[in-house]
Amino acid sequence: MNDSRNNFKNIELFWNVQFIYELVLAQLELQSFDVEYKVSEDFRNFSVKEITNLEQFLSRTAYFGSALSRSSLYNDITSKNITRSINQYLTHWFYPYKGKFHPQMIRALINYMKVKEGETILDPFVGSGTAALEAQLLGINCIGVDVSEVCSLISQVKTNSIYYIDDIIYNQIEIEEELGKLQGHQEEEISTKISQITSSIEKPEVRNFFKVSELIAHSDKIRRRKKDFRKSFLKNSAKMITSVSDYADLQKNHKLKLGKVDIYKGDSRELKLNSNSIDGIVSSPPYSIALDYVENDKHALSALGHDIEIIRNDFIGVRGKGKNKISSYNKDMEKIYLEMDRVLKKDKYCVIIIGNARINKEEIKTVEMTINQFQNMGYKLERNIDKIIFGLYNIMQKENILIFKKER
Ligand SMILES: C[S@@+](CC[C@H](N)C(=O)[O-])C[C@H]1O[C@@H](n2cnc3c(N)ncnc32)[C@H](O)[C@@H]1O
Repeated sequence: MNDSRNNFKNIELFWNVQFIYELVLAQLELQSFDVEYKVSEDFRNFSVKEITNLEQFLSRTAYFGSALSRSSLYNDITSKNITRSINQYLTHWFYPYKGKFHPQMIRALINYMKVKEGETILDPFVGSGTAALEAQLLGINCIGVDVSEVCSLISQVKTNSIYYIDDIIYNQIEIEEELGKLQGHQEEEISTKISQITSSIEKPEVRNFFKVSELIAHSDKIRRRKKDFRKSFLKNSAKMITSVSDYADLQKNHKLKLGKVDIYKGDSRELKLNSNSIDGIVSSPPYSIALDYVENDKHALSALGHDIEIIRNDFIGVRGKGKNKISSYNKDMEKIYLEMDRVLKKDKYCVIIIGNARINKEEIKTVEMTINQFQNMGYKLERNIDKIIFGLYNIMQKENILIFKKER
């Protein structure tokens, strides 16, 4: 109901917004657009006095489905979803990667950071590319770095397939024909053939698209043993094509000016970027003990031809044992934070999402270490928001969203 006495009008919070950290971010989003608002005691009903820049608000908001009787762009974006998971819209679902960001949270944080269209954000631990896709949708450029080839590949495919959709569809038809000839062949023969076909595709962007589909099929096979590899590969490719086509339609219908995405495989302890070149950083570093990303993506890294024991050395948080593991993790993180500071421009924001892990009942104080280092580097901690973690209950229950501003 509109509060006509004070000229406050309703704006509609997305129904899926449930956690306290999301309600905090929803309010910060309104504040970042200089909107005067009221919120009901149950935190479900928001009303606003006016929204000076309504068009911009509607095109950027992450937490509000409509404002002043107009639907937000995010409403349309999230409706392009072929999965059952609310946050896996467009190409976000590509590859079952553990520890993905919640894309809605990233969109809101980019708003908080006030990064403008055409400016550039960095995610030095880009993982499955959540920040890259969200920045692209907002017309913001993104540089994403990850030491894992699986991650750099997925992130590229999620964000650049939209420019190659016709080629991809053409290749899919050819591949279907080719694989049709292999009915009744042994599973291993089929898997080798698929690998040969995808590797021989000339255009790297198209080749990478089918490589990701192949990696998803490998993962399906490992997780759900009885899956037929050929069927799984073809089904995944078809589903991926639907999502990329949806993305292309969305872009066309809304005349979206997409941001430029630049993903590279590399070690963030030494970023190949110029000093003072970045307008915002948002990232969740690996945890000291929670997830072994090498072990987790073992099948995919091996399928890409990597020796697991060799590449393990470049991954943060998985090297060594016990106390040694923690001290090398801390040293690595110190280095990375110095690198982030070097590339970030003055007066800009750096958002780190990180938590404290426990080893043998001892808490590893990574959050405090991060805050100390950023403060020593001349940053102000503007916000420290508690965030619940789903899925890692036995190891970690919560993490913190640390919003730093570079003041020198
Ligand atoms: C918490 S995950 C990031 C997940 C990401 N936010 C997403 O939405 O998918 C951390 C990532 O750090 C990467 N990583 C580990 N060591 C690294 C290093 N030295 N340089 C760059 N990336 C590294 C891992 O491969 C992993 O993908």
